[in-house]
Amino acid sequence: PPIKLEGEFVGSLDCGTTSVRFILFDRYANIVAQHQLEFHQHYPKPSWHEQDPDEILSVVHACIDAAVESLQLLGWSKNSIKVIGITNQRETTFAWSRTTGKSLCNAIVWNDSRNKNIVAQYERKLKEEGLEVEPGVWKKGDDAVEALRALTGLPLSTYFSAMKLRWMINHIPEVYKAHQLDDLCFGTLDSWLVYNLVGVKQGLHICEVSNASRTLLMNSATLNWEPCLLQFFGLRESVLPKIVSTSEVYGYIASGTLAGVPIGGLVGDQQAALIGNKCLKQGSAKCTFGTGAFLLFCTGEQQVKSSHGLLSTVAFQPGPQSKPVYALEGSIGSAGSAITWLKDSMNFISNPAEVNDLAAQESTSGGVYFVTAFSGLLAPYWDSSAAGLMIGISQYTNRSHIARATLEANAFQTRAIIESMKLDSGTDLNELKVDGGMTNGGLAMSILSDLGGFDVVRPEMRESTALGSALLAGNAIGLFGWDLTKPETIAEVNGRGVKVFSPTLDASAREKKWTKWQSAVQRCRGWEV
Ligand code: G3P
Repeated sequence: PPIKLEGEFVGSLDCGTTSVRFILFDRYANIVAQHQLEFHQHYPKPSWHEQDPDEILSVVHACIDAAVESLQLLGWSKNSIKVIGITNQRETTFAWSRTTGKSLCNAIVWNDSRNKNIVAQYERKLKEEGLEVEPGVWKKGDDAVEALRALTGLPLSTYFSAMKLRWMINHIPEVYKAHQLDDLCFGTLDSWLVYNLVGVKQGLHICEVSNASRTLLMNSATLNWEPCLLQFFGLRESVLPKIVSTSEVYGYIASGTLAGVPIGGLVGDQQAALIGNKCLKQGSAKCTFGTGAFLLFCTGEQQVKSSHGLLSTVAFQPGPQSKPVYALEGSIGSAGSAITWLKDSMNFISNPAEVNDLAAQESTSGGVYFVTAFSGLLAPYWDSSAAGLMIGISQYTNRSHIARATLEANAFQTRAIIESMKLDSGTDLNELKVDGGMTNGGLAMSILSDLGGFDVVRPEMRESTALGSALLAGNAIGLFGWDLTKPETIAEVNGRGVKVFSPTLDASAREKKWTKWQSAVQRCRGWEV
């Protein structure tokens, strides 16, 4: 029989929008074993995006089983897995019955905007009827809009879970009935996974605080559900999970390959990447470049409310008794998706990595600016009327100029968010940590550094999201001495092979290009009215 070595590893279950991964890390964040599986995306109508909650569960179990099998083939015992953390796509909304534990409908995914009319209806209600922020104290008009933002850190938008839940109650009879009968359990993906992994019989109905901060129902200062918002949105308190910290032992896996292993970390995926990049202190920032891009700037224990188009969000709470750490967040709608467009729709390249080779054939974009507002512009503009725009084209323009302009678009949009962050926080940014598929391209990173005017720091091991939840899980049980309140305890984690891209473009050329970009953005707005 094979020798079963006893080691110490931490598992991270990374449940993103399109795939699930289970990764096993050692104390230095070396990946020991892993498995990834995609699952089905359902788009039943334009702007609708659903997922099957049960399929997600079966993919989770399949990933765990396959990764553990790989670990065992390497000679390690599965008892070497001491704890697991879970990180998840945020805002995606789940509804199930407390009595049966069964889901009542498909999950509505974060980028689904079927609820636009409901949002418009609540916008009117907010302004006209107002919000009763304390018994007898009403805010109306713009003051009510501001009060909602002050309470939650968020604007009223199709993006956040409360509006998706409201749509389910209004349109799905089973959900409506369960709500009426106090049988409805609402949750984000972390809630659904924990409820099932610890065994439905336990009835463990929880929601981690960084996920709760994306629902539009949590008071971001007290970290409690906000009664005036439940009242405003017409939701019963009984639907809500208990809000829990980002790092503690919530329960133990009930059955299957990892039966008995504690779950020690839960966190939204963009916040996980902030932790995985070790941006634990005020002033540090990361950007994850995937299909879209999410830039989070840690503001420490101070919650900064944005007046420049950013979201104010809970980054993490390192333990049930700890103070939360906050972040400002800027979301970019199209990042890697613009490169996919060059590949699939324009036939410019045959795989995404080639965009760097094509762009490298020219040293500038030849005066071309490409505003990749494929579905409007998110932060800091929040303009759904903006349309994709390419400007500065002449007979001189070639495919390489356009490839380069596409990479530059990501850099400019990132800078736009950083400019807002500077204004909101009063802090300048010297370096930006990066991860995500697009960061594999060295040229893309040099362009980001040149046009942003800051150092871009790219670790060799870029599974930062998974690493973030692993660090939280280790922190919960004191594994490897990791303590997220003492950054020195994780100094050796993922410290090898860091590459820094520093700006080489002179400042006046950078500012000239920035001015041109801003003028291109102005031209693309107000198109889809
Ligand atoms: O807010 C949505 C975000 O959490 C989705 O991230 O990486 O799963 O697409 P990702």
